Amino acid sequence: MPTVTFDKATRIYPGGTKPAVDALDLDIADGEFLVLVGPSGCGKSTSLRMLAGLEDVNGGAIRIGDRDVTHLPPKDRNIAMVFQNYALYPHMTVADNMGFALKIAGVNKAEIRRKVEEAGKILDLTEYLDRKPKALSGGQRQRVAMGRAIVREPQVFLMDEPLSNLDAKLRVQTRTQIASLQRRLGITTVYVTHDQVEAMTMGDRVAVLKDGLLQQVDTPRNMYDRPANLFVAGFIGSPAMNLVEVPLADGGVKFGESVIPVSRTAVDEAAAAGDRTVTIGVRPEHLDLVGEGDALAKDGGKGLAVTVNVVEELGADGYVYGTAKVGDESKDLVVRVSGRAVPQKGEVLHVVPRSGETHVFSTSSGARLSD
Ligand SMILES: Nc1ncnc2c1ncn2[C@@H]1O[C@H](COP(=O)(O)OP(=O)(O)OP(=O)(O)O)[C@@H](O)[C@H]1O
Ligand SMILES: [Mg+2]
Repeated sequence: MPTVTFDKATRIYPGGTKPAVDALDLDIADGEFLVLVGPSGCGKSTSLRMLAGLEDVNGGAIRIGDRDVTHLPPKDRNIAMVFQNYALYPHMTVADNMGFALKIAGVNKAEIRRKVEEAGKILDLTEYLDRKPKALSGGQRQRVAMGRAIVREPQVFLMDEPLSNLDAKLRVQTRTQIASLQRRLGITTVYVTHDQVEAMTMGDRVAVLKDGLLQQVDTPRNMYDRPANLFVAGFIGSPAMNLVEVPLADGGVKFGESVIPVSRTAVDEAAAAGDRTVTIGVRPEHLDLVGEGDALAKDGGKGLAVTVNVVEELGADGYVYGTAKVGDESKDLVVRVSGRAVPQKGEVLHVVPRSGETHVFSTSSGARLSD
């Protein structure tokens, strides 16, 4: 299977002033499952359609393996695409739906049957091959759409939100199936979703787009542990990372009553940019509860006082949605607590960020300052 390369690939729609996809640089490895994720309108589908040959490329190049496919028609690219609306032909059986592209291509009947049966086996559709689509569940129909792509034995799979028509439970089930199927077949895959949980659970690597610009491409683990900027920090993770603008203080930053240490370079960089504040990021699971005057709270301080507004009990964990006064502003924060010891609405908790688990971002540029 080949690699896929976006080389400063740009798409400006006719009449558009700014690119829908802006100089996208992305190297996708042989057999890799790469997920493109980002909010609505950020350019995910456009990127995929450029790779498929369904959208003109106005700048840069796209390569599949060593082949420059930038201006090749879709049929010469050896790719197969699965869309959100995978419209099956209602009057055809599952087998005929799956084999249709091969029939058009003039492949003989026995060969088509062999490939369809093979795909049916892989997708657990064997007993449904003679049914019409209307007699299938949503998840089964989705698998037929996958089958249609598989029988063509493409070099690259493209999928654009293929699960968004399924209900929540089926979506979770099917995403595991797709991920394991892709690993089994080893076909280089580009998968588009706006759902960051889907991105994090399915991808070998995840590429985050915003306004047509690539923000970060990384493994799910690194993306979570070291988001490159404020946007990625807020986008990846659920509930989202707490992001709080705080003033620089001697030896660190002032976080409520405590001073929390921040690397010298981060402070220097912020100061060099003329900033008097930085934005501190702390994930909900990295805010530790401290008692008043607890040794954990540096300088004998009390951490940050958070007034509990809502508690979400999830069994093993609970999420506290609260408000804290940071400087002159009141700020919403989320704190993860043990499911066995959830506080009551109205209670006041004192929290400090766990040492080594704070992220520091430039307030002015949004760039990551900490290591
Ligand atoms: N045919 C078109 N003509 C003009 N502008 C378009 C066209 N298709 C998309 N756009 C614009 O290009 C930008 C990117 O669109 P795109 O469909 O790639 O977003 P997306 O990330 O797939 O969003 P969603 O999650 O909503 O599917 C948007 O601002 C959109 O309005
Ligand atoms: Mg889209």
